[in-house]
Amino acid sequence: MDIGGTKIAGALVAPDGAVLARARVATPADSTEDIITATSGVIAELVAAADGPVSAVGLACAAFVDGARGHVWFAPNIAWRDVDLGERVERLVGLPVVVENDANAAAWGEHVFGAGRDVDDMVLLTLGTGVGGGCVSHGRLLTGAFGIGGELGHVVLDPDGPRCGCGNRGCLEVYASGSALTRSARELVESASPIGEALRRRCGGDASRLKGTDVTELAEGGDLASVELLEEVGTRLGHGIATVCAVLDPRLVVIGGGLSAAGDLVLAPVRTAFARHQIGRGHRPSPSIVLAELGDDAGVVGAAHRARTVLAERTGGA
Ligand code: BGC
Ligand code: NA
Ligand code: ZN
Repeated sequence: MDIGGTKIAGALVAPDGAVLARARVATPADSTEDIITATSGVIAELVAAADGPVSAVGLACAAFVDGARGHVWFAPNIAWRDVDLGERVERLVGLPVVVENDANAAAWGEHVFGAGRDVDDMVLLTLGTGVGGGCVSHGRLLTGAFGIGGELGHVVLDPDGPRCGCGNRGCLEVYASGSALTRSARELVESASPIGEALRRRCGGDASRLKGTDVTELAEGGDLASVELLEEVGTRLGHGIATVCAVLDPRLVVIGGGLSAAGDLVLAPVRTAFARHQIGRGHRPSPSIVLAELGDDAGVVGAAHRARTVLAERTGGA
């Protein structure tokens, strides 16, 4: 399961990572109880669709979670605080449940089955409602002492910047998420600038109707303002990645999430900014920066594989 700010997506995943069935619902707003109920409903639907027994459930959540305890501490973009999510869902569905941060799960999915399959040191960033991060170091998922390791979206780029859902100001997330792209596109539409004409036409003058995909499509068609908006996102991201790489020194950086559909329009400025901010630039090897391969499935596939692995470890197996 992948529980995000906008949707709860589930899949039935085979041991080799193949997705056998899918189900999804919109994330109920503002209620932990409703999210738990909706999640359990999707799980029940998938279990019913399965040919054989389902062994476990992996829950990937857009939240700070302690995977070892199945506990959710906090989420910047979802209304839950201090929930024993693993236990609650286990009781409802009658299967063992393993909880992980959504971007950690996606990083794990890409590491086992996707862009990072041949790499032991990699970092993944997901650009969606928020900016998620996941780090694999020496082939192990970095979780930290409290499970909150790898929150790369909250690396601070500007302490005087706009407020972030985590409480700080100027986090990577306020500049490089899908929501940030939409926000700056809407600002441009509402300004008087002739630069925003194509975006304004696209939404019929109603900025609230504008979506990130509108910006990407206009940019693909050559609209300079839209290209610029994606460049701004990519530039911030490249800067953030350089900071992250000073800590983790990965071989590979994988960019996923909805906004990564913009491809080179965002990747090219990421690479330029990264090269500009990398420590010791010109005198050292550099990581490759590539797009994710599993698309929307990275979270569910990674969560399923984590669940299998963690449960095998708990029962003394692998
Ligand atoms: C949260 C992360 C999450 C990311 C992507 C961020 O706002 O802090 O926990 O992984 O959004 O959903
Ligand atoms: Na993470
Ligand atoms: Zn933050």
